[in-house]
Amino acid sequence: MSIVVFGFTFGDQIKYPMIQTDKKIVIAIDGYSSSGNSTLAKEIAKMLNYKYIDSGAMYRAATLFALRNKIINPKNHFVDEEKLRNQIHNIEINFKYNPEKNRQEAYLNNENVEDEIREMNVSENVSFISKYGFVREKMVRFQQEMGKKKGIVMDGRDIGTVVFPDAELKIFMNAKAEVRAERRYLELKEKNVQVSFEEILENVKKRDHIDETREESPLKMASDSIELDNSNMNKQEQLDWIIGLVKERIK
Ligand code: DC
Repeated sequence: MSIVVFGFTFGDQIKYPMIQTDKKIVIAIDGYSSSGNSTLAKEIAKMLNYKYIDSGAMYRAATLFALRNKIINPKNHFVDEEKLRNQIHNIEINFKYNPEKNRQEAYLNNENVEDEIREMNVSENVSFISKYGFVREKMVRFQQEMGKKKGIVMDGRDIGTVVFPDAELKIFMNAKAEVRAERRYLELKEKNVQVSFEEILENVKKRDHIDETREESPLKMASDSIELDNSNMNKQEQLDWIIGLVKERIK
């Protein structure tokens, strides 16, 4: 049974209740890039005191490794597939909780890369690395391991379809490309990253296309997923919408 203990605010004054529950379920949140899935996933995890894992960070960290080791050419996105295959066992990705920033941070071979993996050079190349089956297999194994004990919220592209097909709650998020690009633009501007809106919109559309059409685990909605188009919703509205579903599943 779930009991609402108290309410508190987060970030830009979102109000949400803490839900105390002994029931541990798996919540899979998939969707298009910058559709707000990670914000929502983080908030649900906090509400339930569950672990939050950003699976995209893992593909980004693998891409950073490929860039640093000249496995991918950032100019034409050419990937030396053989080199990537041979070096895949040298890629170790972990998450560690940073109490100061109150967030999980991604580590690549024991180096904190949380900020670096959000930069444009990684965003522009990540789809060309995440399309390989042998890369995905490694990430999926690790993701499934992290979800073994349940009590986890994971966001990504294939969480409800491939990683946790038996997840108790699956959400598929979407919003218009322009809306998503605008959100990403504001996020990067806040971090003082110099980039134009047009560049971001192009990157969002390109990534949508690659994610949807790749052979390995393309981005698609699981048949038992619930769709949320949040083009015209603020964060509070999205949270209110999902709280009802979460409560239903942990009953
Ligand atoms: O969620 P994000 O934008 O940080 O993800 C970065 C890229 O990683 C995205 O372009 C697609 C890929 N990705 C994936 O293929 N599968 C996942 N489960 C998560 C992300």
